Amino acid sequence: MCGIVGYVGRSEAAPILLDGLRRLEYRGYDSAGVAIVNGDRVETRKCAGRIAELGKLVAERTPAGTFGISHTRWATHGKATDQNAHPHFDASGNLALVHNGVIENYQALKEELIRGGDTKFVSETDTEVLAHMIGKLYDASAPTNGSTPPQHEKNRLVAAVRVALQQVIGTYGIALVHRDIPDFIAGARRGSPLVLGVGKDENFLASDVSAIVAYTRDAVYLNDFDVVAVERDKFEISSVAGERGSYEVSKVEFTDEDIKKGDYPHYMLKEIFEQHGSVRDAMRGRLSLEECTAKLGGLEMTPAQLRDVGRIVLTGCGTALHAAMVGEYLIEQLAGLPTEIEFASEFRHRNTPMTRDTLVFAISQSGETADTLGALRESRRKGYRTLGICNNVASTIARESDGGVYMHAGPEIGVAATKSFTSQVTILALIALLLGRMRHLSTSEGTVIIEALEALPEKIEQTLKLSDHIRAIAKKYIAAPGMLFFGRQFNFPIALEGALKLKEITYLFAEGHPSAELKHGIIALIRPEIPSLFIAPDDAVFSKNLNNVEQVKARKGPIIAITSGSGAERLASVADDTVTVPSAPDFVMPVLTAIPLQLLAYHLAVELGRDVDKPRNLAKSVTVE
Ligand code: M6R
Repeated sequence: MCGIVGYVGRSEAAPILLDGLRRLEYRGYDSAGVAIVNGDRVETRKCAGRIAELGKLVAERTPAGTFGISHTRWATHGKATDQNAHPHFDASGNLALVHNGVIENYQALKEELIRGGDTKFVSETDTEVLAHMIGKLYDASAPTNGSTPPQHEKNRLVAAVRVALQQVIGTYGIALVHRDIPDFIAGARRGSPLVLGVGKDENFLASDVSAIVAYTRDAVYLNDFDVVAVERDKFEISSVAGERGSYEVSKVEFTDEDIKKGDYPHYMLKEIFEQHGSVRDAMRGRLSLEECTAKLGGLEMTPAQLRDVGRIVLTGCGTALHAAMVGEYLIEQLAGLPTEIEFASEFRHRNTPMTRDTLVFAISQSGETADTLGALRESRRKGYRTLGICNNVASTIARESDGGVYMHAGPEIGVAATKSFTSQVTILALIALLLGRMRHLSTSEGTVIIEALEALPEKIEQTLKLSDHIRAIAKKYIAAPGMLFFGRQFNFPIALEGALKLKEITYLFAEGHPSAELKHGIIALIRPEIPSLFIAPDDAVFSKNLNNVEQVKARKGPIIAITSGSGAERLASVADDTVTVPSAPDFVMPVLTAIPLQLLAYHLAVELGRDVDKPRNLAKSVTVE
């Protein structure tokens, strides 16, 4: 969580830092701050609230200076207050530091500093400990015989960073400046992302390239335990242990234009409406009509290795886990392979029995989710082949996995995951097809699957045309205190996903269940104020779904039905509202049925006046446990 941006160059730092923070606001938005070195002063502005609040503060009295650091926070330790907002300072007030991550042993470190006698803490954060430790180490290493050349000061500061970080247990992406070291930022990472943007006569540090892509597309993705010393025209990477580091400058694959909202009022709506393209991009070059299968070179597995896989584990969090659940149905149905779903947060801490031939997939849009990363590491540590399904190509999960499949969905900025979900499901369908074709699926069955997949983008476009109709439904239920979602088989995970979208951005209570579970308890919740949404396409389980719809109707519960084909006609007498998506085989239907649910959550949230792209208490990328 949290976003950090650092700048050193020849331009005024304040507008660049604020601009970067605005682009990172999806990572956290409960308080924000900047620190800019201006001659012999470190000027800071920070406050609780959104970046817009910080923008006002900065506009009142803009700190001058051409290097500085900044932060947007998602609180872990300490409330969202002005005092807890970053940057934090050392005892001298000369060193300012921003941090993304959690210092797990901060309490012990804090007590040690307090015992030392001269350290006073002004915030409740874990971060402040780090500022004090580094500042103290830096001051203690000062030569006794007066001033030293600037390079020595830089080396001393980097050495202090290393020594402090060697004592830290936890995760960090940090950036810091010191009043006495002009045109210099130090940074380091472990477990929280940090990227160096390489410009011309200027360099940047950021939690995510989207903060700096307007200025440079040349980026160095730092590795865990890297410490970076950044100046205007050069940088040096070493390790926390003091070894010289190697690096590669990569080209960022998207541009500044790609992360703009364009004419859309919200990123979420833009991203929902991008899905015909993102699903097409997830399949691009990966389907072979000649061999009637999917081609996924990124898995880095030979045909024999793929054939020998005996079990699949799919892990992730939130929406990615719901995609995994669709994947479970897909892989079991198309490839006949036993497949298990694991909450990443549980998987990493429990001893799931796994056979030697298990293949693990860690699914994550951001590729930085701490729980999913932890699951990936645990799985690899035990010697299982672990693959990533990520959108962010430079992410830690993408880099640490044994191979994988990129989503190519483009940047997803809205906190509610939308296009990444349909891309994940599409990729899982490709994996199921590939594994199936290594086993029992015939060429003709493979061809049918490919045709169904290739038809999806156009059907998504048709589904998106239902947006106005769905908005009208949303308006009708504006006073509903909550909503229940039901689906069967491939559409049970869609019920969970629909409920999650609604909870996240409308703050209404919502639950998702397999339709048939209704009678095992949930039916007690049915009443006229609570709509039940059934995902009931015209498929093999339609009649079973219809029974459950009738059970709700009999108890005066309003019904919204997402259906297809002749479903609308058959639901006409029971459903209060019907949304009909294009017909498609059951295994690709979740890609289509998810979209009306995204739109319903979106329109309802807008009607309720919610902050759709930045819902309360949330952040896009959850890099803490
Ligand atoms: O980046 P990831 O896919 O790993 O994120 C996982 C979840 O945090 C994420 O899907 C979250 O549930 C979304 N906000 C849901 O809309």
